[in-house]
Amino acid sequence: MNSNDYARHFLETVSTSDYSVVLTGAGVSTDSGIPDFRSPDGLYSKISQETFELDYFLNQPQDYYKTAIDHIHPLADKEPNITHKMLALLQKHDLLHAIITQNIDGLHQKAGATNIIEFHGNVTGFHCIQCGKTFDRTYVDKQIRTCQVPYCPCHSLIRPDIVFFGDMIPLEALNAAQLSAGSAKVFIVMGTSLQVHPASSMATLAKRYGAKLYIINREPTAMDTLADWVCHTELTDFSQAVMNALAAKERPQN
Ligand code: OAD
Ligand code: ZN
Repeated sequence: MNSNDYARHFLETVSTSDYSVVLTGAGVSTDSGIPDFRSPDGLYSKISQETFELDYFLNQPQDYYKTAIDHIHPLADKEPNITHKMLALLQKHDLLHAIITQNIDGLHQKAGATNIIEFHGNVTGFHCIQCGKTFDRTYVDKQIRTCQVPYCPCHSLIRPDIVFFGDMIPLEALNAAQLSAGSAKVFIVMGTSLQVHPASSMATLAKRYGAKLYIINREPTAMDTLADWVCHTELTDFSQAVMNALAAKERPQN
């Protein structure tokens, strides 16, 4: 099968499903210039996985923020790519109904998608760990530049609205993701190695409740053997082929 065959088959499948859900990971954003985590040139080849641990953040917030100001906060300036746009378009055609994302970059929203469940939070918000007051990036970045660590007027530490290893998944996101996964007729996995729990367990949950599991990723994932259909490809090629197939379906036939 080439990309066009994969895309046609994919479109046929979502066309026959009345509730389709996608779980996305860092691989959908690499074409926006954001490195993923575990590929050879991924973020973990440059910074330690410890950077995303809650204990590390609480004990050494200055080290976290030193890395974050260059590698994490600028994710908010990136632009969506063809995969984000393709998923938003599928939603407009009522072929996709929920997006569970592990990404913190906000690019599904920027592409115009809706019903997005941010499983690991987002890079744009910050709040005080003591009083809960919220802050934006401009305030936080300014404080990092002047005094290394941002503090709330109540003198407590400001933290990002992202999920660190050691944090709970936000309850609302966990509930919404479980509900969507459990209701899915088709559950699509895109651009994730499926190595991080509990995000990856949304795929097993969907499968257990009867969904067809589709995996589209450059490399094999932890759950390929569980899937009904696996496509190892570049997401840009796949998404372009899906857009083309969708446009061809819309053209009037002579
Ligand atoms: P990973 O880096 O583990 O996996 C990304 C996957 O996307 C890899 O298998 C790549 O092969 C694939 N990929 C990358 N670019 C691609 C492209 N253009 N086309 C097709 N496939 C591509 O990232 P995630 O699975 O998203 O959590 O990582 C999950 C979590 O681990 C993150 O949310 C983060 C991290 O630690 C926290 O920080 C809590
Ligand atoms: Zn406070």
